[in-house]
Amino acid sequence: MTDTSHTSGSRPAVLAEQSAVEETLTRNVLRSFENCTDPRLKQLMQGLVTHLHAFIRDVRLTEAEWNRAIEFLTATGHITDDKRQEFILLSDVLGASMQTINVNNEAYMNATEATVFGPYFVDDAPEVAIGGDIAGGAPGQPCWVEGTVWDTDGNPVPGARIEVWEADEDGFYDVQYTDGRVAGRAYLFADQDGNYNFWGLTPTPYPIPHDGPVGQILEATGRSPMRASHLHFMVTASGKRTLVTHIFVSGDHLLKSDTVFGVKESLIKDFVEHPPGVPAPDGRDLDGQGWVHTRFDIVLAPENA
Ligand code: BEZ
Ligand code: FE
Repeated sequence: MTDTSHTSGSRPAVLAEQSAVEETLTRNVLRSFENCTDPRLKQLMQGLVTHLHAFIRDVRLTEAEWNRAIEFLTATGHITDDKRQEFILLSDVLGASMQTINVNNEAYMNATEATVFGPYFVDDAPEVAIGGDIAGGAPGQPCWVEGTVWDTDGNPVPGARIEVWEADEDGFYDVQYTDGRVAGRAYLFADQDGNYNFWGLTPTPYPIPHDGPVGQILEATGRSPMRASHLHFMVTASGKRTLVTHIFVSGDHLLKSDTVFGVKESLIKDFVEHPPGVPAPDGRDLDGQGWVHTRFDIVLAPENA
């Protein structure tokens, strides 16, 4: 006999006796954590078991599917080393990274929104002066980036430290090359009025690494590995919440399908094109190249907001 009173949400109807067996197991596993003396760990483990068991029951997971999942996680572990972090990629394409960022960076007044960190930050980038060039010889169209760093009360934040990093026009970060180059990354400090500007490269779209298990999942589910074009920022200032974010290029056809769900409307900026011959803002000789400019005003939340 099928007892539909033992169904929940999309869960298929199962016999009452079967449902009781499944619920007893979940209760027993939850109880096994009752004596955990760390209350947060207990909450995390019991929450995980609750949702994992609900998932298994909802989709009526087969043993073959569970074995396939274990194989997948094993392969994810095997390809992971100190340079390749496939588990983070998995978290990214499942939107888990972005949801964790959302939970931990609640909207505060008009503070700039955060987005994914990504795997390509390195902490020994060179410093450039205001107006300097972060491209470091990386190929791409010159892009003038300027803005002001503010606090949420509308005061400038003098001396804020601004780290920037980006892929070159071929879609690669410097660390993806094997020749040890440092390019497409630097840090600079906002001036006394919170203003900053620098030369970078017009961002171009690129795929996340997709030659491993995560790429297989994307392929099997008909998803693209492409990220929308972006320029990474990490902004720190005393007494302010560290901001990790990117800016995206308005009009980019990938804005709605960024494979790691990093795009937020407020982070989409106009990148205005200037044909060859239009003088650069700082008089730089662009050697006959066209250039682009964009503006990114940054608002930092207070540290404990
Ligand atoms: C990135 O923006 O660099 C990135 C983010 C998540 C996964 C892969 C790359
Ligand atoms: Fe990136």
